[in-house]
Amino acid sequence: MRVFVTGATGFIGSAVVRELLGAGHQVLGLARSLAAAQALVAAGAEAHTGSLDDLESLRTGAAAADGVIHLAYIHAFSHAPLATRLRVLLSGWPGGIATRFIAAIGEADRRAVAAIGDVLLGSDRPLVVTSGVGALAAGRLTSEDEAGDPHSVAAHRLPTEALAAALAAQGVRTAVVRLPPTVHGDGDTGFVPRLIDIARKKAVSAYVGDGHNRWSAVHRLDAVRLFRLALERGEAGARYHGVAEPGIPTKAIAEVIGRRLRVPVVSQSRPEAARHYGFLGPLFATDNPGSSALTQERLGWHPTQPGLLADLEQSARYFTS
Ligand SMILES: NC(=O)c1ccc[n+]([C@@H]2O[C@H](COP(=O)([O-])OP(=O)(O)OC[C@H]3O[C@@H](n4cnc5c(N)ncnc54)[C@H](OP(=O)(O)O)[C@@H]3O)[C@@H](O)[C@H]2O)c1
Repeated sequence: MRVFVTGATGFIGSAVVRELLGAGHQVLGLARSLAAAQALVAAGAEAHTGSLDDLESLRTGAAAADGVIHLAYIHAFSHAPLATRLRVLLSGWPGGIATRFIAAIGEADRRAVAAIGDVLLGSDRPLVVTSGVGALAAGRLTSEDEAGDPHSVAAHRLPTEALAAALAAQGVRTAVVRLPPTVHGDGDTGFVPRLIDIARKKAVSAYVGDGHNRWSAVHRLDAVRLFRLALERGEAGARYHGVAEPGIPTKAIAEVIGRRLRVPVVSQSRPEAARHYGFLGPLFATDNPGSSALTQERLGWHPTQPGLLADLEQSARYFTS
């Protein structure tokens, strides 16, 4: 299959490209810079020039492919396209800059998927989009069949999930892959490296309350296999959970970080954690376990890579500053 991959140069996307090429697919990767295009060609893929704010580039990329995996995402205000930043600054949306930014990137994601989906209408071609287990209800083990919770920490992902469901009813073989808050492995730039960085700078590794609240996790190499299987075999409108470990107590994460950095491990109240970790404080306080039992049954996906705590214990790369 010739697959258009957005976010093909990112932490997960670059591994998706290798996974697809290794399975005999051809890859057309979205590149928004010369360096990105060169990296894709060096990896054995073709580069397609464009960006999330250039919707026509997404349409032409999708039109040239037999299927699409959408992983591009704007993660930082400073990296956001000018149009998104202006929308955040000038909009009358409620909340501070951070709240408005999160809403704006959710909307940018939905618009990108709408542009891609438009081209695929009635084709039965696969479109795999990315969401998060964090978009589901907190405090209990959640399953693939559950709809998202508008009050969840990743509720900004829900408009894209809703659009994927609507596209499935219009002849697009959409699948939503919900990832856990931590996808770990070589080159990780996500939340765990930030927790480590803050613990190093402040010389203390903190968890919130009793630290029994849970985070789910998956190794990057397991996650990318799931993206390939969802592309190849996903059912229209399906939701899959890329979860290898359903619920790791956050205290255990803080403990391994403290041990590796040789800094004290302490409990903090929610307000203390918000000061200590910034925007990560409320996220690290969330209890968000997710099950992948249905995904494993429906796609025959079985994670085989080391778990998060083992990866942190064994890996030097997380702890080299
Ligand atoms: N990593 C995790 O732990 C984790 C956990 C849960 C969910 N996720 C989700 O998984 C997806 C992939 O994450 P990741 O960790 O691979 O992210 P990443 O390493 O930050 O990569 C983001 C990708 O998006 C591209 N991108 C950003 N802004 C763009 C724009 N305006 N136009 C076009 N491309 C743009 C980047 O291109 P450049 O290379 O040019 O910057 C890069 O290829 C995202 O939806 C993310 O939120 C990740």
